[in-house]
Amino acid sequence: MVDGECYGQIVLYGGTGSPDLASEIADHLELTLCPREVITFPNTNLFVRLGSSVRGQDAFIIQTTSAPTNDNLMELLIFIETLKRASAGRVTAVIPYLGYARSDKKDQPRIPITARLVADMIQSAGADRYITLDLHAGQIQGFFSIAGDVITAFPLLADYLRKKDLQHAVVVAADLGFAKKARAFATELDLPVAFVEKRRVDTHTEALTVIGDVNGMDAIIVDDEVDTGGTVCDTTSALVEAGVRDIYACFVHPILSSDAAARLRSQPIREIVTTNSVPIPPEKRLPNMTVISVSSLLSGVIQRVHAGRSVGEMFAPYHGYS
Ligand code: R5P
Repeated sequence: MVDGECYGQIVLYGGTGSPDLASEIADHLELTLCPREVITFPNTNLFVRLGSSVRGQDAFIIQTTSAPTNDNLMELLIFIETLKRASAGRVTAVIPYLGYARSDKKDQPRIPITARLVADMIQSAGADRYITLDLHAGQIQGFFSIAGDVITAFPLLADYLRKKDLQHAVVVAADLGFAKKARAFATELDLPVAFVEKRRVDTHTEALTVIGDVNGMDAIIVDDEVDTGGTVCDTTSALVEAGVRDIYACFVHPILSSDAAARLRSQPIREIVTTNSVPIPPEKRLPNMTVISVSSLLSGVIQRVHAGRSVGEMFAPYHGYS
């Protein structure tokens, strides 16, 4: 156990959304995940029971809220509620992937901002803090009024790619909304950056324009997440047409909904570099996929939050990811 200054000892819980990642984080912290039961009743109601006292302790619940998003989110809320009612000294929700983050603005009439609702629910359930990775948009932090640490896994991905020593390469933002982060990533790799712009030609067709010099270069496509795979596949086609050599696809959250893995498999992508912020089932693990664990990153943040030390200094050399 690691001794804390103000909140007792760390008690670490893993939800059912990301069990392997939770175990890895526990290993890094040289802790054991605390015993708990998660039961789904015949009527589909969820029930959580903690196996030991958390009174006055510094509780961390690790639960990603990817698919099944609603079940995982509800389980997270019930865990927080359980920890709070069991008199934990402080409750931190560790959410490697925040579901509903793409619903972050009212850009059409009569639609919700569900990311705001999710933030409200996490707070109302009783979380004192949250830790998450690479939010879809930095502004989502403003939906929470509790303190949080939004950290980035891109430096881990950059470390991996740097070792490949790609000499004649360019970082390509698959989405203009990702342009600032793509530029930060390119700066970190000391590479140039290019962008793919998607624009509507008429009501049925979209055209992709590559902005920047990519001809004859290796391309590293970057994005925060791959969901259906549509964005990466379209970007790959545009880059092939623009004359790139090898293509790498690099993203933090492997959502890989429905047939995304099959779509990626059919693309001329040399390597897919991602993380385990979302568990990847065996059938979606492609032979050209490298999965980098975020466990040491998250355990480092947990340790610092517990000890009341700066989290920012872990990322001091990296700028522009928020
Ligand atoms: C969009 O804003 C995001 O940055 C990703 O480009 C998007 O979530 C990817 O989705 P899909 O894989 O379904 O194209």
